[in-house]
Amino acid sequence: MKKLLVCIALVLVSLSRCVESQLQVGFYKDSCGLAEFIIKDEVRKAFVKDRGLAAGLVRMHFHDCFVRGCEGSVLIDSTPSNTAEKDSPANNPSLRGFEVIDNAKARLEAMCKGVVSCADIVAFAARDSVEITGGFGYDVPAGRRDGRVSLASETQTNLPPPSFNVDQLTQMFTNKGFTQEEMVTLSGAHTIGRSHCTSFSNRLYSFNTTVNQDPSLDPTYATMLKQQCPQGSNPNLVVPMDPPSPNMMDTSYYQGIVANRGLFTSDQTLLTNSATANQVTQNARNPFIWKNNFAAAMVKMGKIGVLTGSAGEIRANCRVING
Ligand code: HEM
Repeated sequence: MKKLLVCIALVLVSLSRCVESQLQVGFYKDSCGLAEFIIKDEVRKAFVKDRGLAAGLVRMHFHDCFVRGCEGSVLIDSTPSNTAEKDSPANNPSLRGFEVIDNAKARLEAMCKGVVSCADIVAFAARDSVEITGGFGYDVPAGRRDGRVSLASETQTNLPPPSFNVDQLTQMFTNKGFTQEEMVTLSGAHTIGRSHCTSFSNRLYSFNTTVNQDPSLDPTYATMLKQQCPQGSNPNLVVPMDPPSPNMMDTSYYQGIVANRGLFTSDQTLLTNSATANQVTQNARNPFIWKNNFAAAMVKMGKIGVLTGSAGEIRANCRVING
């Protein structure tokens, strides 16, 4: 009887381990040993051609994970009967880096056919992008499988718009299992990359019924932004989100917020709540702490709603679900 109980206990412990660690660091060690190296190589090549692609790939992982979990749904192309996530206003025309994923996938399929998921490629590429822009590298637990559904409509309820205030942001991140603190940490990704003028032009020209310009925006910065983004200008115009260092994972994003130079309402709003404001100030001063926390939060983000085991599939082409 005692032996039986011990056996049952052992089975339960190993089962719970199984559930806890569905993803594993080094998942492709035996099945495709060079997988992580090849992805890093493609990220590096892309970065040399266009440094902005690193930002695109970090954002791609975020947009993948927040909609249906990290299962590569953001990569699927629309079809005549379905408008996919990538063609929603949240992603089109702003999301970039799809070719980097395609190139990595092509090499991986040639080397180890049907083994490495598109969702994992996105997760590795985001890590490599953080690292190449000066953030801390981190181990990426892998073994995600690819989903078979991608609906543009689902981006609206799962991705935060730049107009959100701190309570709305906190709620949306809580829905995905994050604390408010982790939300502030992850927002620091806006230390790299660019934004289309259309994502914040309301703060310059049509803020509300009493003032045209957002009073929480530093007036000197607003004047500069107005020059870069004239009213009614070409919707393709873009500006760097962190002008002092647009390709560096540093904490000047937080310094910008302290100076009322956060680009979006969703950035500047972090100063309106005492807990988040405190964290903004701390991060502005402590790049080491922020980079550490950011790496940990990225690992956590990479676990949202993953498909593992025999769920989903390993897509042959990241843009198309298997036939
Ligand atoms: C907190 C809520 C967030 C909001 C409201 C938000 C919103 C936006 C918007 C509107 C853009 C500009 C898109 C454009 O017009 O081109 C952008 C860019 C970007 N976002 Fe976020 N974002 C948020 C959180 C995050 C998180 C959690 C990450 C990653 C961990 C992230 C990474 C990025 C990056 C790297 C860019 C630059 C993309 C590029 O240069 O291609 N954002 N974000």
